[in-house]
Amino acid sequence: MRRAGWAVAGFAMGVAAVGSLLLTLVLHRGVSARATPAALEEAVARRLRQLAIPDEVRRVKSPVAPTADTLAMGRSHWADHCAVCHGNDGRGDTAIGRGLYPRAPDMRLDATQRLTDGELFFIIENGIRFTGMPGWGGGGPDGDVETWHLVQFVRHLPELTAEELLEMEHLNPKTRAELADQEETRAYLEGGGAPDPAVVDPPEATGAAARPPVGDADPD
Ligand code: HEC
Repeated sequence: MRRAGWAVAGFAMGVAAVGSLLLTLVLHRGVSARATPAALEEAVARRLRQLAIPDEVRRVKSPVAPTADTLAMGRSHWADHCAVCHGNDGRGDTAIGRGLYPRAPDMRLDATQRLTDGELFFIIENGIRFTGMPGWGGGGPDGDVETWHLVQFVRHLPELTAEELLEMEHLNPKTRAELADQEETRAYLEGGGAPDPAVVDPPEATGAAARPPVGDADPD
């Protein structure tokens, strides 16, 4: 009973300490998302996140053997859903990735590569609360096999080749305006003179059916 009392008091003091640390950081550094998190804040956040991932999940090994095919699936999934924040190369050097707080990290580096397969899987399935990182899992008990392809791709980031990056550029989602621009440039480079208005004009103007963006917009 006494022991339990001490445990509760210890826990309350821990919560108060973390709370006052966060409050000090907010008062001192403001609430702008433009700032870069202090090293201490980042270390505390990483540690808390590690504690929040169950031990048995952390130890899980990928049930999907890495092959050229599974890697290709991870790569195209990444280009379609993740690159908008993380960049095709995983450096996080994108307009959104740079503007988030905390920023999208350079995932080629040790801090990410040291995470276990299970930790990467858990993060991708569930997202990271209070950050820009969304959860992508369908909520099933065993997670999605696509998530394992993504884990394999994250592991591959430090060795990504120029050919792979080029291929991914074709898989990145594009707006209608970007597609029209591309078409215009292509027509111009081929010396075709005026671009094809049916392609360049927005579908509303031509009465054509709305074209979905390139790539699969469905998160699965
Ligand atoms: C809207 C922006 C956004 C999108 C889209 C996004 N992420 Fe993230 N992701 C983030 C941010 C921001 C972080 C850093 C969070 C933090 O520091 O705690 C992050 C962190 C991660 C991490 C942890 C890295 C580390 O070192 O801690 C993994 C793994 C990850 N993302 C994978 C993915 C995958 C796979 C996808 C696509 C299915 C994806 N993310 C899509 C914003 C995004």
